[in-house]
Amino acid sequence: MPLELAKEIGIPLMNTKLTLPAHSKMLSKDFVYGVATAAFQIEGGKESRLPCIWDTFCDTPNKVIDGSNGEIACDHYNLWQDDVELINSLGVDAYRLSISWPRVITESGELNQEGVAYYINILDALKSKKIKAYVTLYHWDLPQYLEDKGGWLNRETAYNFRDYADLISIAFGNRVHSYATLNEPFCSAFLGYELGVHAPGIVGKEFGKKAAHHLLLAHGLAMEVLAKNSPKTLNGIVLNFTPAYPESQSPADIEAAAFADDYFNQWYIKPLFDGEYPKIMSQLPVEHHPEIYEGDMDIITHPMDFLGINFYTRAIYRADADEHFLQIDPPEPLTDIGWEIYPKAFTELLVSLNKKYTLPPIYITENGAAMADKIAEGVVNDQDRIDYYQEHLNAVNDAIEQGVKVDGYFAWSLMDNFEWAEGYLKRFGIVYVDYETQERTIKSSGLAYKSLIGNR
Ligand code: GCO
Repeated sequence: MPLELAKEIGIPLMNTKLTLPAHSKMLSKDFVYGVATAAFQIEGGKESRLPCIWDTFCDTPNKVIDGSNGEIACDHYNLWQDDVELINSLGVDAYRLSISWPRVITESGELNQEGVAYYINILDALKSKKIKAYVTLYHWDLPQYLEDKGGWLNRETAYNFRDYADLISIAFGNRVHSYATLNEPFCSAFLGYELGVHAPGIVGKEFGKKAAHHLLLAHGLAMEVLAKNSPKTLNGIVLNFTPAYPESQSPADIEAAAFADDYFNQWYIKPLFDGEYPKIMSQLPVEHHPEIYEGDMDIITHPMDFLGINFYTRAIYRADADEHFLQIDPPEPLTDIGWEIYPKAFTELLVSLNKKYTLPPIYITENGAAMADKIAEGVVNDQDRIDYYQEHLNAVNDAIEQGVKVDGYFAWSLMDNFEWAEGYLKRFGIVYVDYETQERTIKSSGLAYKSLIGNR
């Protein structure tokens, strides 16, 4: 039934399909569709790896809302074979996973063969099903012994990361399609070492930019070893962006939003492509500045084969008498985690980054929504999530039509999992996880995603 007619005669509109315009580049077979996860969020299997900063953070009272931790999570450590079957059943081209550094490297800096074998088994299983492995080397689970030496505030950590990238990329051989060095250095640096709402929970404006610089240095050093050990894989980084909008068109609000954009977004991309931090650095107290050694920027600007972009929402700012900006509460509609649904910002982000920088091909490495899912008789009717995906796929398509080169899209997430400081309360999966039984149920959004991919 045509949608207009359905509206007129009052039939509830349920577009349970995901569609794209017939001529869309996103319907070509070369466009990569995938699902994404991260080690700490799904694996469990804590007893067979070293502790990481998220274990410690979870053990600290009042850090994670539901008091939960990553000890079992989705028990992917034990259920990975079933999960690879599940991924395969969705018909995706690719799976983005992260490697737990404390699972594969010992405290003395050698490979932990048991941990390496675990990932090699997964990579081989993916390969046998022709699913491309997009491997992220660091998705926030820093080994605790490195945090004890200062973590990302210690420049040495960048070199430790390089050594880990070196060993693991040799060990994985030709099983990987793409390496991302870091996932969202903004979160590691700002949320972890400035706001303190993520592990390791350090608070202080003087720390965030220092941690960020060491993370970007780690990225550049790892890019060098990846280019040597693994020249055929697509090597790059994954950044998240929360585009900054002014509350009004007043010059003061516009300036506040521009400052916030530099502070939260451009800070992480500009050094990679322009070899310098945004100009707002001069407005930050000297004690907040990163320590930049000669040659660092050459390392950080190592050419990349792709840029991964994660997008969920935007933020709105107004001018403030005391601070450079003030973020205001987001207007509706909101997802279950309180983030505004505003797909237009996705298109505008991609178009503006493409204008500002000379970028390699882009992959949307994460996009998705937390919704208050209900499971009834084995069915999760997450119409709200389907709508979110539909609007955001359209937004990516719009950007492509405006000349942005996007080569792939990964849904966040394959399955519900440990949502960091929100614990298990927020569900981002296109597959539902019953944490009591570890049973997985593909949600309606998962079925819609599968049919979009299958119908190309
Ligand atoms: C991220 C995180 C994910 C989160 C997701 C929703 O890269 O931001 O990878 O781990 O679960 O973003 O907050």
